[in-house]
Amino acid sequence: MTERIYIFDTTLRDGEQSPGISLNQREKVEIAEQLARLEVDIIEAGFPVSSTGEFEAVKNIAKNVKGPVICALARADRNDIDWAWEAIMFAERPLIHTFLSTSEYHMKYQIKKTPKQVVDMARDAVTYARKYTENVEFSAMDATRSDPKLLYQVFTEVIKAGATVINVPDTVGYTIPDEFEALIKGIMENVKGIEKVVVSVHCHNDLGLAVANSLAAIGAGARQVECAINGLGERAGNCSLEEIVMVLNTRKDATDMTTGVKTREIYQASRLVSMLTGYNVQPNKAIVGENAFAHESGIHQDGVLKNRATYEIMSPEDVGLVESEIYLGKHSGRHALKTKLEEMGFYLDDKGLERAYVRFKELADKKKEVAVKDLEAIALDEIRTLEELFQLDYMQSSSGTGAIPIAAVKLSREGKSYEATSTGDGQVDAVCRAVLKATKVRAKLVAYQVQAITKGLDAMGDVTIKLEIEGHDMVGRGVSPDIIEASARAYINAINRAVQKGLFEKKKLARKATSAHAPRPKAKTKAKTKAKPKAKAQPQE
Ligand code: KIV
Ligand code: ZN
Repeated sequence: MTERIYIFDTTLRDGEQSPGISLNQREKVEIAEQLARLEVDIIEAGFPVSSTGEFEAVKNIAKNVKGPVICALARADRNDIDWAWEAIMFAERPLIHTFLSTSEYHMKYQIKKTPKQVVDMARDAVTYARKYTENVEFSAMDATRSDPKLLYQVFTEVIKAGATVINVPDTVGYTIPDEFEALIKGIMENVKGIEKVVVSVHCHNDLGLAVANSLAAIGAGARQVECAINGLGERAGNCSLEEIVMVLNTRKDATDMTTGVKTREIYQASRLVSMLTGYNVQPNKAIVGENAFAHESGIHQDGVLKNRATYEIMSPEDVGLVESEIYLGKHSGRHALKTKLEEMGFYLDDKGLERAYVRFKELADKKKEVAVKDLEAIALDEIRTLEELFQLDYMQSSSGTGAIPIAAVKLSREGKSYEATSTGDGQVDAVCRAVLKATKVRAKLVAYQVQAITKGLDAMGDVTIKLEIEGHDMVGRGVSPDIIEASARAYINAINRAVQKGLFEKKKLARKATSAHAPRPKAKTKAKTKAKPKAKAQPQE
């Protein structure tokens, strides 16, 4: 009989740990809502103890996103677990995910604990988390480089303490399929109580084997796969959600496994994550890359025209890849724009809608027809824009043969205006310098890329940049029919991410973290006991 594999999405936790990504609360909720439409089983919403912003974002998701289990990460530490619970307790189905390293490398050099201490800490963490909820996952970090005997012992103890899911992470992406399969088999055979829990795997992609390893683990008895949209995650990323889901979907004949994922939402999820994180999808990426369903050679085109099955093993429609139709024209009003955006799943507030409308009108004046992808790009640009962060109110630039390029910008933030002019090596350079001058931010441009959103010379430009700010890489993205404006928007977006991350206001943010966390809600509807988290936020793992 076909068996069900649970899809645990960690785009908002491990995915967000990718360098340069720093999603704001609105972006996180937007992605979580798309994950709910995708019908993943579990959304790992974040690591609440890491910062006040992260805590609030997880809480927001737990309160508002319905359908999947909402999970929060916590180290094997009571204070972490308190914060995790406080963030997710209002979810329909909350899950605490606690983890501890079990490999020699991590025990000796990083956490400085003996195997006995690790067993005790893991047991204690699960027992403690179970006081809050009956859904507790335990991960043995760096499991694939751990002594299997220690793994059996730790897993046996945490199951006894009440863990409902045990997770086997290939934290450094080191294992290979046969070896991982054998490890999972060993766990299935040697861990007491294993039949009562779900066995999960969490594979990183350092050797490009995350999907293959997850599949091998399923063959050995794992029934949950942790994965991320577009394969985002630490370093080379995690197992890609779209790939593992489509493997199981397309090769059900061979695996006899299925998932509950609504595959037609995959493409939209991939685009949303890419647009909001600023991480572009490589054109030849399986399932969601621009070329994933493109047939270039004459022989292939000929075959596909005669019968798609000649060169296609799945249909683009199955992953939600449909040609964008024309949606609106220059005579469409605010109401039509709002209705269309809501049909597409974007709910903007009044100010955001007004800004989107102005940009839509400008675009509709330039192009007669505004496509779905254009509307989507404008909506996502507005979702990225928060009132408390810098916004572009105005920009102008000029250049010419023999003339020095010059640009002027006017930005606003919380009612205050920031203006500057600058010259540059070209118009893009001039406008970006003006943005830095206006915001008084020092940054080094590490990467710059421009793509067209739709086909044709009148297409919107989609600029992705990477800036080094205060020693951190920050990714920024901006769209506009004018690539100079798109570049300015991308710069502002990267600067805003640095602001959100607290790179300019460390002291102030530390105080905020303390005061925001200090008064805890009294009644915990689902808690079995009360605990007092320490007020101080911990650094990101
Ligand atoms: O890679 C890893 O080990 C993790 C754990 C927290 C599950 O992300
Ligand atoms: Zn990980």
